[in-house]
Amino acid sequence: MSSNEVVLLVIFSVPLLVNGISPKRHWTLLPNVLVLDVDGQQGQYSLPCLESKAEMTSRSILDQNIIWKKNGADTPTRGNTFPVQLEESFGGGNYTCNSEDGTLLNNTLVLLRQEKAKTDQGDLKCTAQNYNGSFHCSWKYPKRRVWTVALVKAQRGQSWTCFSGEGNIHCDLDSGGDGITCRETCPQPEESRLLHVTVYVHTEYYLLETYYLAFYLTEIVKPDKVNIQKVNETMVEWRYPGSWSIPHSYYPLISQVAVGKDCRECGNPCTDLTSGKIVENRAPGMFQFEIRKTKYLCVRIRDPFSPPQWSDWSRHRVKRQPGKNKNKVGGRIRF
Ligand SMILES: *[C@@H]1O[C@H](CO)[C@@H](O)[C@H](O)[C@H]1NC(C)=O
Ligand SMILES: *[C@@H]1O[C@H](CO)[C@@H](O)[C@H](O)[C@H]1NC(C)=O
Ligand SMILES: *[C@@H]1O[C@H](CO)[C@@H](O)[C@H](O)[C@H]1NC(C)=O
Ligand SMILES: *[C@@H]1O[C@H](CO)[C@@H](O)[C@H](O)[C@H]1NC(C)=O
Repeated sequence: MSSNEVVLLVIFSVPLLVNGISPKRHWTLLPNVLVLDVDGQQGQYSLPCLESKAEMTSRSILDQNIIWKKNGADTPTRGNTFPVQLEESFGGGNYTCNSEDGTLLNNTLVLLRQEKAKTDQGDLKCTAQNYNGSFHCSWKYPKRRVWTVALVKAQRGQSWTCFSGEGNIHCDLDSGGDGITCRETCPQPEESRLLHVTVYVHTEYYLLETYYLAFYLTEIVKPDKVNIQKVNETMVEWRYPGSWSIPHSYYPLISQVAVGKDCRECGNPCTDLTSGKIVENRAPGMFQFEIRKTKYLCVRIRDPFSPPQWSDWSRHRVKRQPGKNKNKVGGRIRF
């Protein structure tokens, strides 16, 4: 090979690299939402306005009469394709094409997924208050960005049927935008397929991030915390939370109680000191616990059988009637 040929090859390969389609992959997240997988290198993606020539012909639209806007602002670009310039994390946006008379032809939200941005399991947390098929997931956004949820997917590994029809999962976005409340139309008593939740969010710069978690509903059940009430001087009681599954005889709970002399907050080290005691139901749906010298009481509940987690702790401060103890100790009554 002569040295001339080598030089020619180099010259041709440079523009090829720059103009080549740099996104490793492009895929459709939703109709009109396109995701480009990018690795930070310079490149270009040719975004079509109308997918087919046939459509242009049938609507008598000429290539040179198509004009483009990006994020609502006019661009000088004309023609059926917009060359989306990709560099580092720039290039995403809301691309709109119109015909010259102002008719909207198409609108595509282009999101960029950076290669290093991996699916982050740690940020998505899901819990259920009971076994009825409802659950809640939440996540924490990294700071200093404005986030928008693009799509939430919640599904079983395989579809299933029940007497009321095809089972599916419906989710609503919480008003804060950092959580979803979901409901499975026919919860399975014996779950054989994992439930998968994927949340796609993007920043104000159109960078896509994904949160993902797979679980069985029974694994994420965590009862609500209880409300401890005084019965009399020596007894307190608490009942199953109102959100717990009924009948209570079929969905029993056990309690763990830890007592302390000085307990500002339940949990370590407070509840460790007394190594929580398990308390059985006094009556269906109800627990009682005798308090004698107890000052502080920490209580939590859980399903005794499957993996479910403990509820959060509830703390109760025992308030004795003033004067009573002094009576015993000092033997003097003060009015
Ligand atoms: C609009 O753009 C999207 C995304 O590029 C494309 O899939 C779709 O087919 C286009 N719509 C029409 C009517 O061509
Ligand atoms: C994209 O821009 C169009 C026109 O400005 C607007 O109607 C549409 O709501 C925008 N879409 C998104 C997802 O921002
Ligand atoms: C407190 O209530 C419990 C349960 O109702 C009862 O057994 C106990 O006798 C009561 N104690 C006092 C001092 O009234
Ligand atoms: C399931 O339990 C949750 C939590 O208490 C409740 O908000 C929801 O309405 C219940 N759903 C059904 C279908 O019973």
